[in-house]
Amino acid sequence: MDAVEVVNLTKEFKIYETEGQYMWFSGYEDNRFPLFKLYLFLLSLAKRRSEKIIRAIDNLTFSVKKGQIFGVLGPNGSGKTTLLKLLSGLTMPSSGHATVFGLDIVKDHDKLPQILIYMPGLSVVSIFSDQNLSIRENLLRFCEIARSKKEKVDEIIATLELETFSNRPLYELSTGILSRFAFAFGLIRETQLFLMDEPLTGISPEVRANILTFIKEKLNKKYGATILYATHRLEEAQYLCDYVMFLDQGRILSSGSPYELIKLLNLKERIDIEIALSSDFYKMIKEVNNLDKVVSIHNYSYDAEHGVAKFQVVVDNSREIMTSLLNKLSEFGKLLYVKVREPTLEDIYFLLIKGKEAEAKTEFGFEINSQVMKCGRGFTI
Ligand SMILES: Nc1ncnc2c1ncn2[C@@H]1O[C@H](COP(=O)(O)OP(=O)(O)OP(=O)(O)O)[C@@H](O)[C@H]1O
Ligand SMILES: [Mg+2]
Repeated sequence: MDAVEVVNLTKEFKIYETEGQYMWFSGYEDNRFPLFKLYLFLLSLAKRRSEKIIRAIDNLTFSVKKGQIFGVLGPNGSGKTTLLKLLSGLTMPSSGHATVFGLDIVKDHDKLPQILIYMPGLSVVSIFSDQNLSIRENLLRFCEIARSKKEKVDEIIATLELETFSNRPLYELSTGILSRFAFAFGLIRETQLFLMDEPLTGISPEVRANILTFIKEKLNKKYGATILYATHRLEEAQYLCDYVMFLDQGRILSSGSPYELIKLLNLKERIDIEIALSSDFYKMIKEVNNLDKVVSIHNYSYDAEHGVAKFQVVVDNSREIMTSLLNKLSEFGKLLYVKVREPTLEDIYFLLIKGKEAEAKTEFGFEINSQVMKCGRGFTI
């Protein structure tokens, strides 16, 4: 059995325009939430003018294997949070169905909290914790509610590097520390499935790196947890995820392991070059472009005042071309910088989400592009 199975899942939100103001349906149709009732009440007082439907999730079908770290990627508003909320039973689908470890997200929604933990980042702090209590006191309190072992608290505090802050009340703490506390909160309960929604937002890089290692090495590899990880940070997804799904406007644009996607989209290596020119810029670009194994050249810029040119060469195999490329470049000036980049998830993201814009920019961005660009699909950011 897969950990998560999703079939034709769709989630629509209704937005009502009323006289003088907009009101939202928060999506909690089952009336478990008092706030929703308040909305309904206010809406019935206000006069409705029109109704708009937003399809946040549009016919998604996919599955997540047990023990996988599954990345949910996509731009703002693409449906990542809505998907995780649906799988946590916090909101109900408009159609389609899904199971999480065999539990139906509609029929069994009240049982879902027992088998998974949804980590929505900072918002957990205002909903579940007491601002006047310290990090340690809040975690201990949650331990009691979740019937977890109290000894876990110190271990979790150490994992999130919160020792020096753990006895201070929440209201005194900075956003980044509260984000770390929010993550700590998610680790209190024993569970096999974590739904993490941008969990590291606001956390500084050195701590973020340690948390990422913790997620991958301990939670996933050691304890075998399955993790759905929604993020904009593609380098995080690249490090963590065995499998990624790109969403845009609620639909799946593409999915697969990062390696499969790079192959599928035929993404190539890119060599970033910076050179102090002693010769003609256009001639150099043309000659480099004519070298065997050069696919295309992108993102030119030329600083005429300092005589420095920057560009990216997309190649089939950097090792095969390196000598001839460097020899060719040295005919035109002094090399300042050369860096080979393997294709990354970021390249996939830009190609999928920004593909059209990037192509347009290539054509428009530099006059001589159309003359010197060879056929072939480069990626331009
Ligand atoms: N309660 C709601 N009522 C109305 N529309 C909503 C509601 N929640 C989300 N939406 C809409 O659904 C779409 C998807 O939103 P969602 O929050 O799932 O995106 P996201 O991918 O998580 O974005 P972000 O990267 O900004 O967190 C958006 O158009 C959003 O405005
Ligand atoms: Mg979101």
